[in-house]
Amino acid sequence: MPLTDKFGRPITDLRLSITDRCNYKCVYCRTGNEGALYGDLPFEDYLRMARVLVGLGIQKVRLTGGEPLLRKGVVEFVQELEKLNPQNSDPLDLALTTNGHLLADLAQPLKDAGLNRVTVSMDAVDPDRFARITRVPGGYEHMLAGIRAARRAGLWPLKVNCVLMRGFNEDQIIPFGMFAREEGVIVRFIEFMPLEEDRTWSPTTVVTLDEILARMSEYRPLVEIPHARSETARRYRFDDGIGEIGIIAPVSHPFCGHCSRIRITSDGKIRTCLFSVWDHDLYGQMQRGASDEELAEFIRGVVMKKEARHHIGEPDFVPASRTMVHIGG
Ligand code: GTP
Ligand code: 5AD
Repeated sequence: MPLTDKFGRPITDLRLSITDRCNYKCVYCRTGNEGALYGDLPFEDYLRMARVLVGLGIQKVRLTGGEPLLRKGVVEFVQELEKLNPQNSDPLDLALTTNGHLLADLAQPLKDAGLNRVTVSMDAVDPDRFARITRVPGGYEHMLAGIRAARRAGLWPLKVNCVLMRGFNEDQIIPFGMFAREEGVIVRFIEFMPLEEDRTWSPTTVVTLDEILARMSEYRPLVEIPHARSETARRYRFDDGIGEIGIIAPVSHPFCGHCSRIRITSDGKIRTCLFSVWDHDLYGQMQRGASDEELAEFIRGVVMKKEARHHIGEPDFVPASRTMVHIGG
């Protein structure tokens, strides 16, 4: 029986955080300070978790952080993940989300190890703005070199995630449209969600899907293209067929009804939703000596508790028990 929650949603995607350390301090995610860490686990523990989950029907594993490329041994870990065999006998879809800073040297080794795709976080096309958002001077060149190395290595399709935050980068929408066309990458704008460390979110800070579409259409008309039900992004191409953009709109157009994801944090806890107010200690089960069958049973039980939806912007909204850097996106 494939992993299914109590609302009948099949759970096929795992987001696995391998560290909550990050070398960037993006304004929509972190404060300017280091902050406490939950820590991380040896790769063999993540591998066991992934093996059990793939045995339960997971078809896609996305490595996240913090910044996953800070972890030494990530290439060898990808090599091991690549050997796992999903139930449907298609190869496992292996992806990674990164800020791109260390990607230039790692793109080809990751591809050779079996990684299929990367998503790079990039929140401004303008280098000075990029530095202001990431709070890292000089990062832009590293990130851009990372994107280009990923493209050369065939990590494809290559997606760029841009979190829009009013007052910081909403003027970058059209420049990103140009960037998508020139660089041949899919740029996905993400509505800012209340998962940041310094609690600056309010409804007015969100640049919505409608606003993004209106602004981009001033540059060139867009044509919507179909997207998979469980996909986070609505997809659009420009009218001349050159360039694709996506919009991830969890605030103005929630997609929880088709959610196919579970997450494991770097310290081995299962989260059933980005906005969960508690998590489930999978690593604790392993430390207590649980067998693979017992872990599978534990996971099935946890998935049954998956939340129906998030409550962003509603009076009964309760902040998640962790901020994004300790979840992994
Ligand atoms: P693909 O594998 O290419 O489909 O990528 P993806 O969209 O699953 O992963 P990606 O890391 O690109 O996710 C993009 C962003 O969408 C994340 O960083 C989050 O900001 C947001 N997101 C992903 N999953 C969820 C979710 O379950 N709920 C909400 N509210 N937002 C999500
Ligand atoms: N709202 C929306 N997206 C966010 N990300 C990080 N914090 C937030 C937030 N508060 C995105 C980043 C990165 C991914 C891991 O999560 O852009 O691409």
